[in-house]
Amino acid sequence: MLIEAHGGRLINRVVEGAEREELLSKAEQLPQVKLSLRDLTEAENIAIGLYSPLEGFMTEKDYTSVVEDMYLTNGLPWTIPVVLGVSQEEADSLEAGEDVALTDTEGKVYAILHLEDKYSYNKEKEAELVYKTKEDSHPGVAQVYQRGEILLGGKISLVRRIEHDMFNQYRLDPKDVRAMIEEKGWNRVVGFQTRNPIHRAHEYIQKCGLEICDGLLLTPLVGKTKSDDVPVEYRIESYEVVMDKIYPRDRIALAVFPAAMRYAGPREAVFHALCRKNYGCTHFIVGRDHAGVGDYYGTYEAQEMFDNFKEEEIGIEPLKFEHSFYCKECESMATAKTCPHGKEDHIFLSGTKVRGLLRAGKRPPKEMTRPEVADVLIKGMSTNK
Ligand code: ADX
Repeated sequence: MLIEAHGGRLINRVVEGAEREELLSKAEQLPQVKLSLRDLTEAENIAIGLYSPLEGFMTEKDYTSVVEDMYLTNGLPWTIPVVLGVSQEEADSLEAGEDVALTDTEGKVYAILHLEDKYSYNKEKEAELVYKTKEDSHPGVAQVYQRGEILLGGKISLVRRIEHDMFNQYRLDPKDVRAMIEEKGWNRVVGFQTRNPIHRAHEYIQKCGLEICDGLLLTPLVGKTKSDDVPVEYRIESYEVVMDKIYPRDRIALAVFPAAMRYAGPREAVFHALCRKNYGCTHFIVGRDHAGVGDYYGTYEAQEMFDNFKEEEIGIEPLKFEHSFYCKECESMATAKTCPHGKEDHIFLSGTKVRGLLRAGKRPPKEMTRPEVADVLIKGMSTNK
């Protein structure tokens, strides 16, 4: 039996067939709002049920409730605002109660927004409560500050899918992933979020998860990340070069996670977990400083965030892992929970040091990064100078 989507039902707001034709022709007479690729992707993520139970961009009541209390007004936990910001001028030209066509920057219609309300909001308050800082040097907060000053709330109907040049074989909707899980006969499925190339600590915690589950669903994030994160094509290639070698093929699957990174640490960890539940995962890995950036969050704050909710409210089980490393004395990967040796026996290089090595065309120690992966990253560094 598959785990239920968050809220009990996988949302589907993708309109097809005659209804789609009708909406598309109606859209020609509707007021139009042009969306960035990031916002269009959010509309698509809602429509395919990745953000179940959301059926549209948040209305004021839900937005406020999520920002202040981490719950939707229907009583379900939800930690990250999913909103559509526009300028005051654009908002003034729209009426609550009407339909609005959401288009790309060239005017091609992708969705209809059934506008329920438009409202102003306090960006600094959102920054403080969701990101725990008002500093615009935090990339998630910077994103909030750049957003339009009025939010449009309401359900959406998606009439066109976004076309992509990359990773099409890994672009699976929640319903496709659920069908795959059923077909494979997995009962316990552990989901893994990442915005980085695979390294040995990732591999270790993934395999620990796989030891107690039937399947591992790798869901590397392919939405927007900050500019100094490794470019997405190399992150995905890092998985491609090792996947068949290091995992039993019938116990793993990869589906890219199309959302943008928020870097909201603890709150994003819960959001990531709920999205993986919608994919059909029963377990979700949360390691050190999950979805963190800089020093904004404590190492295990993302794990502790789950304690604010009842287990049955979240529904998917977080698998919490301590900071993992390679220990020369243990001759294996370990954490402080399993290794009695001191720091001098642990192989640890800072991200800066690893980047320095890669830039110089050198592989980091193989206990940190597999050589095949290091080569992909060296190639990435040399083409992205
Ligand atoms: S994240 O922003 O997506 O969280 P990253 O891709 O580095 O960044 O991490 C993916 C997952 O692996 C997260 O759950 C993170 O906490 C975990 N993780 C990364 N490195 C380690 C490590 N050395 N030890 C334990 N967990 C880790």
